[in-house]
Amino acid sequence: MATRRWFLGLALIFCVCLIPALSVDKTNFKTCEQSSFCRRQRSLEPGPSQYRALLGSAKLTADKFEIQLINDKTKVPLLLEVFGLHGNMTRIKINELKPLKPRYEVIDVLVGTPASENLQVTGQDDNTLELSLGDGGQKLLVTGSPFRLDVLSDQELVLSVNSRGLLYFEHLRARKDTLSAKVSSAVGNMWHKVKNLFSSDSEKTNTASENDNQSAGEEPETVNEEETKKEEDEAGMWEETFKTHTDSKPSGPSSVGLDFSLPGFEHVYGIPEHADNLRLRTTESTDPYRLYNLDVFQYELYNTMALYGAVPLLLAHNIHRTLGIFWLNAAETWVDISSNTAGKTLFGKMLQYMQGGGETPQTDVRWMSESGIIDFFLLLGPSPTAVFKQYASLTGTQALPPYFSIGYHQCRWNYNDEDDVRNVDASFDEHDIPYDVIWLDIEHADGKRYFTWDPHKFPTPKNMLTGLKEKRRKMVAIVDPHIKIDSAYRIHSEIRSRNYYVKTKDGSDYEGWCWPGSAAYPDFTNPEMRAWWSSMFSYDQYEGSMDNLFVWNDMNEPSVFNGPEVTMHKDAVHWGGWEHRDIHNMYGLYVHQATAEGLIHRSGGKERPFVLTRAFFAGSQRYGAVWTGDNAADWEHLKISIPMCLSLALAGISFCGADVGGFFKNPETELLVRWYQAGAYQPFFRAHAHLDTPRREPWLHGQTNTDIIREAIQQRYALLPFWYTLFYNAHRDAEPVMRPLWVEFPEDMSTFAIDDQYMLGSALLVHPVTEANAREVHIYLPGIGEVWYDVHTYQKYKAPQKLYQPVTSSTIPVYQRGGSIIPRKDRPRRSSDCMQSDPFTLYVALDLQGEAQGQLYLDDGHSFNYQQNEFVYRKFNYSHGQLTSSSLDPQGTFETSEWLERVIIIGSSKPNSITLHQPDGSETQLEFEYNSQTSVLTVRKPGVNIASDFTMSLR
Ligand SMILES: *[C@@H]1O[C@H](CO)[C@@H](O)[C@H](O)[C@H]1NC(C)=O
Ligand SMILES: *[C@@H]1O[C@H](CO)[C@@H](O)[C@H](O)[C@H]1NC(C)=O
Repeated sequence: MATRRWFLGLALIFCVCLIPALSVDKTNFKTCEQSSFCRRQRSLEPGPSQYRALLGSAKLTADKFEIQLINDKTKVPLLLEVFGLHGNMTRIKINELKPLKPRYEVIDVLVGTPASENLQVTGQDDNTLELSLGDGGQKLLVTGSPFRLDVLSDQELVLSVNSRGLLYFEHLRARKDTLSAKVSSAVGNMWHKVKNLFSSDSEKTNTASENDNQSAGEEPETVNEEETKKEEDEAGMWEETFKTHTDSKPSGPSSVGLDFSLPGFEHVYGIPEHADNLRLRTTESTDPYRLYNLDVFQYELYNTMALYGAVPLLLAHNIHRTLGIFWLNAAETWVDISSNTAGKTLFGKMLQYMQGGGETPQTDVRWMSESGIIDFFLLLGPSPTAVFKQYASLTGTQALPPYFSIGYHQCRWNYNDEDDVRNVDASFDEHDIPYDVIWLDIEHADGKRYFTWDPHKFPTPKNMLTGLKEKRRKMVAIVDPHIKIDSAYRIHSEIRSRNYYVKTKDGSDYEGWCWPGSAAYPDFTNPEMRAWWSSMFSYDQYEGSMDNLFVWNDMNEPSVFNGPEVTMHKDAVHWGGWEHRDIHNMYGLYVHQATAEGLIHRSGGKERPFVLTRAFFAGSQRYGAVWTGDNAADWEHLKISIPMCLSLALAGISFCGADVGGFFKNPETELLVRWYQAGAYQPFFRAHAHLDTPRREPWLHGQTNTDIIREAIQQRYALLPFWYTLFYNAHRDAEPVMRPLWVEFPEDMSTFAIDDQYMLGSALLVHPVTEANAREVHIYLPGIGEVWYDVHTYQKYKAPQKLYQPVTSSTIPVYQRGGSIIPRKDRPRRSSDCMQSDPFTLYVALDLQGEAQGQLYLDDGHSFNYQQNEFVYRKFNYSHGQLTSSSLDPQGTFETSEWLERVIIIGSSKPNSITLHQPDGSETQLEFEYNSQTSVLTVRKPGVNIASDFTMSLR
């Protein structure tokens, strides 16, 4: 939430009350031109690189290859390291050979150091070295002058690095205006060291050219210091002012940048979070995509501005291959995308082709970060799923959510008091609408002191939580990372006395303005601080909490109302002496991590946590769910929730949703209803609303609309077994829950830019209605030789085809893919927990060969016991008139009483008899019904335990 601060902040600071304008104030946020390193880097145009690789300095050790690079202007040497990693991955790092002081390298994001593969130098000429990676299918060509890298896979060029000469590395240097004799001699010494280093190195290897020796050994040209200082200041290298904020830049310029060329690729994706289409646009005439976690008030759509989270992973896809570039850097980052086919019409391309000038389409990507080192991973696929697995091997997979958390969540800013909570809870039952969780926003705490309860509004939180528990429901309360400065507030005084706050550049506790007024920010980069924070979630520390209370981390970009761009000053200081500049994009990840670990800790390590976060980074999937922040009640915001969550899913974060109804503004009823229908088919399903909006609980919009909303939520609950299985596949195998069509149909180019429909797993295609007054939607059903079934009518469609689907206000266009089997629980209940022992129905949708497959995963739904094999993982296979159920993982030992109530076979012919065969040899004739109009066969009461083997034969 962000709006109130304008009332509060403005009222408090200027004593005026303004109505906020309903769009982002772009001047609060920097453009590339206003971010000095972005401006400096962008002013370097493509051309021959200023860098050379000194081939004579090449070294091959057990796990890596290294070589020095030299910039012909600055003469500052860099070290390039190449690590061939298991599973078609390569890691490349570039750092200064001898930086003045260490440069920040990201920690805590990778889940481990991936195993190295064999690297060999397999060829060399005057200007090139050839390295073979892994089994030899991949090659890396290192060109000396100008420096570039080319990656080949099976003889085919898939990617080039620095081929446009945009390698940019601002070496650390002493500040000119403090250039005392001491510093100057230190710098002098450094140059001598550099010189020695180079001459000794070249002596050792004896192959570096004469030229290399000379240039590396030269002293830098003497320049007019006054002149340089002036130039540098103008460029914002030593100090930078934005609006009223000055960044003191104690380390001076330190940015890094690099370009990647992707021949044969016209479609790139990823690098969330942006409110933009799934397919990334070229940025030649706009700002680059920005990755800098920010609390953007009423964000604008279809642009490249930064939002709350950042995952520096970009995917490229064409009909032959998918690949990924993971740029491991947590500082402010900008990504430029250009293409040689952008703007060309199809006719233009054809003309060019016919005239013989058909150049290969190519996309170029340029990364620019403010500090740190260059550290990137090339994920060479070749399939989309291979890239997902490669990325997950680096940053982990989606945490398996507790079952309740994939149900429906009811939130608003704010449920006012315990009575309000009780009434809302009771109204769900009165209107027969399932829900699992009711949420409390910042007003629940005592004066925005998190971990406390307002003594008047929430005097007996345990009674309230017990009441919910009796209904088998949960609560989520907000815990934000800004801590009210108040010596009587225990959390604050403990953090202060333990010296756990982030510091200013001068060493005092960093203070900013946020919800509680004056606030300080715990230094979550400090592992001791995180452990302490985690311990605060213990039941004896967090008073009034119980095991059905879960947590929401908001404002963790971090949001600082009076800070530059509404966030923390970049020269603030963290644990280890690192500047906020270096770690900014990771702050929210650390808050999320410490909170999730706290919930695990309070249960003695037994229970899975649920924590929602607004800010995120690579690896956030390991800690819980993400939502798209403070959206608005507009049709366009509903529409963009799809590509926003798809981009997150591609970047490893599957548990994503958008505020149903829109956070700001008051949705018209039609929009709200459509949003429920769309949200029911997105991974994280929560309604939320701003404090200033009228109440909008599902039953407040007339009987018809209540019925439609109930129906949407019930569809969600019926599919929970399917959702849970998808989450297990995400957790276990890194398969995105919600995925773009092209992931399932990688060779169908017409799917590459589609983002108004998507797949859930490989079985359901969803195309929510996102237009006002819609009478029909245009649907694309992909898959040569495949069929799809409308899940509501069982109508069968041959693919590929474009379909005009008429819709009414209650239609949610969803299609089951022929060849899939989906488990459901079709008895509506109050909450997911109430459905625990309900029986299953299998929906078997036959393909044109009359076959289908599917899976079901289940466990206790809340503990970590599944890691001790307490799970059921089943495989269903329908083939030649036989449905068999077998174990997909025989290690699973979970025992359940859940049973199979019904099997619905869609696209079937009518059998004469159906026999159930069980492992004990028993045979039972089953009753069935056949609808010849829809070709749907309903098999009644197989009655078998869902975890047991069986075969059902149709004759
Ligand atoms: C690596 O790439 C090759 C093709 O270049 C592919 O056959 C192989 O399956 C890939 N390995 C992995 C682990 O993805
Ligand atoms: C399904 O069963 C058929 C017949 O037993 C078998 O040939 C086929 O390989 C099975 N399919 C899968 C995916 O297990």
